[in-house]
Amino acid sequence: MMERLRAGDVRALARAVSVVEDGAAIGAELLAACRKFVGSALRIGVTGPPGAGKSTLVDQMARWLRAEGQSVGVVAVDPSSPYTGGALLGDRIRMQGFAGDDGVYIRSMASRGATGGVSRAAADVCAVMEAAGRQTILIETVGVGQDEVDVIGLADVTVLVLVPGMGDEIQSLKAGVMEVADVFVVNKSDRGGAELVEQEIVAMQGLATERDGWVPPVVRTVATTGDGVRELMEAVRRCAAEKGGRRVRLGDAARPHGLRLDHLGVAVKSIAAARGFYEALGLTVSHEETVEHEKVKTAMLPLGESRIELLEATEEDSTIGRFLVKRGEGLHHIAVHVDGIDAMFARLTAKGMRLASDAVRVGAGGHRYFFVHPASTGGVLLEIVGDAEPEGGV
Ligand code: CO
Repeated sequence: MMERLRAGDVRALARAVSVVEDGAAIGAELLAACRKFVGSALRIGVTGPPGAGKSTLVDQMARWLRAEGQSVGVVAVDPSSPYTGGALLGDRIRMQGFAGDDGVYIRSMASRGATGGVSRAAADVCAVMEAAGRQTILIETVGVGQDEVDVIGLADVTVLVLVPGMGDEIQSLKAGVMEVADVFVVNKSDRGGAELVEQEIVAMQGLATERDGWVPPVVRTVATTGDGVRELMEAVRRCAAEKGGRRVRLGDAARPHGLRLDHLGVAVKSIAAARGFYEALGLTVSHEETVEHEKVKTAMLPLGESRIELLEATEEDSTIGRFLVKRGEGLHHIAVHVDGIDAMFARLTAKGMRLASDAVRVGAGGHRYFFVHPASTGGVLLEIVGDAEPEGGV
């Protein structure tokens, strides 16, 4: 299947996505093979409130990319559907616009009820699409819930679609969506009030702190006619180039191997009880997930460039369960991010460091990790975290 997938066979792509979504062992194996190709496509997240015309805009972006000769994948997260199967009809209707064109592959998924969370499920589908050689992936979601904000985290560039006359609805957007937008779109801009929305966006930007020198531009579109789609795609690419350049710059001497503090892991008896303090401090839980093979429930609270990770045992007989019995609640591990985690694993092994993991594994949020034993680090359990990125290139 991997061979057919790599050859761009669209039936193999559809089959592979189903196999991975099933979550069976064979799917996990296939997914691991696909993950090697993560990072090969440009992922564009498109979000905004219901009725902003996101689907139409995504279709126009796909059409524009097709005209350029690119192969496109679309992941549409549909919050109205309680399960993936319910989204199939939508697929069929939308696919008609690209009937007979294998260059656009659309997959819809429900935003509720996916095992391991919808952002995980969407990440898996993106990985399969990238393995299948899709050059651009459009991730469409409604920016109203935490699940959707997490999905947007998968994108390289995030487009927030707003429309004239939605003043109050902007307020209903999940806090955080405004902050992650790289490009603002005022869609249906042929209607009155486009100017006003644009002013509101600019006013909000004035309050926000500039992120690494990128000031999100505002682009006007009319998705039904395709007006402004070129300008939008140009803005997206400028942003991608800017971010890519930044990633290269971060890889300099100040951060060998891209090293930075990723998170601090705190073992707690109950996340529900412990999060109160951190929330009183002003932090917000951005992501909760149960990692079955570690028998642990995790909650992530972003803190500057890094995060606090609360860890609760789902079973007493587990790493965290035993830690709590022996040491009580407290700092459990420090996690350091690295570019090229496989190389780092090999490097530390070669240098005779004592590792507490026998291999690089996949944990919360699809991130790959391994642990270094306290015997080698001066008494601290150290987690090394990598991206789900290809090792040694594609
Ligand atoms: Co951790």
